[in-house]
Amino acid sequence: MEDAKKLEAFQAKIDADIKIEPKDWMPEKYRQTLIRQISQHAHSEVIGMQPEGNWLTRAPSLRSKKILMAKIQDEAGHGLYLYCAAETLGVKREQFLEWLHEGKAKYSSVFNYPTLTWADIGAIGWLVDGAAIVNQVSLQGTSYGPYSRAMVKICMEESFHQRQGYEIMVTLANGTDEQKEMAQDALNRWWWPSIMMFGPHDADSAHSNQSLKWKIKRESNDELRQKFIDKTVEQGLHIGLTFPDPDLKWNEEKGHYDFGAIDWDEFWNVVKGYGAGNKKRLAHHKEAHEVGSWVREAAIAYANKKNNIQKSA
Ligand code: 3HC
Repeated sequence: MEDAKKLEAFQAKIDADIKIEPKDWMPEKYRQTLIRQISQHAHSEVIGMQPEGNWLTRAPSLRSKKILMAKIQDEAGHGLYLYCAAETLGVKREQFLEWLHEGKAKYSSVFNYPTLTWADIGAIGWLVDGAAIVNQVSLQGTSYGPYSRAMVKICMEESFHQRQGYEIMVTLANGTDEQKEMAQDALNRWWWPSIMMFGPHDADSAHSNQSLKWKIKRESNDELRQKFIDKTVEQGLHIGLTFPDPDLKWNEEKGHYDFGAIDWDEFWNVVKGYGAGNKKRLAHHKEAHEVGSWVREAAIAYANKKNNIQKSA
């Protein structure tokens, strides 16, 4: 009975758009869903640094190198914000990383695709960060306080990420024939993995119904996917690029773009770890975690020393 009353009061807070804070009572499933989603979001931000880092030493100018460096640093910061938000749910960061290294936690499948040319860095900023913005702007309204506040901060930086990517695509699309071909090739390779970022169709989504009821999600996978497609297609057509989807057509009646069938076999194949980059991404993450352990130890030792000095003062 006790929990039934608590659940009723909890749902009333959700329905009244009152944020749920770490010390509030919450259904265990609500907590578990947030631990899963926020930590996987954080993993995505950190692993997403790898495909872009691959081009840091080969950026075509000092300006583009500085921009890419700033963007990659932002992603690391987004990961840290999100791990901090996830830790408020009672799980330590080390545990999240253990689950990731054991293959028990996911990260966004889009980061398992290789970055073959500089145009890929443009396509990632324009499409991947563009998709992330659509998703994260919606998540600013999520019911869990720490997640919602982290999203507000992250969204401010994401718009720079999307714009710098689109600027690269504009430059290439207006460049030599070879550069335009590079931009078109990158769009061909990154378009479908970007629209897969929004997850399975609503009817096949394991978590959406409950996540929408608890306002963890404010819009469904398909609603956000459609928003991204409607906005992005115009940007591509504007710079003379074509999309690798013969069924992509404006539907005047619906006021949206119709688009072709998503290859869910490819999606699940990559999610399950059989994508081009899965093994490499995880191996790199594990190695960096190992090699960087001295930094964590030094930071913890310094913090402990400072605390001891303050205690003895
Ligand atoms: N990649 C990998 N796994 C995915 C996925 C994707 N693109 N989309 C869905 N999945 C997984 C889910 O994690 C879930 O598996 P799990 O139960 O083992 O976690 C399963 O597929 C079923 O999908 P659901 O739609 O039912 O799952 P969710 O309700 O969690 O919705 C989501 C999926 C829309 C991705 C949601 O988790 C979400 O909004 N997450 C926060 C945003 C996020 O993680 N974005 C990733 C990119 S971050 C980024 O791009 C940073 C930018 O700066 C570059």
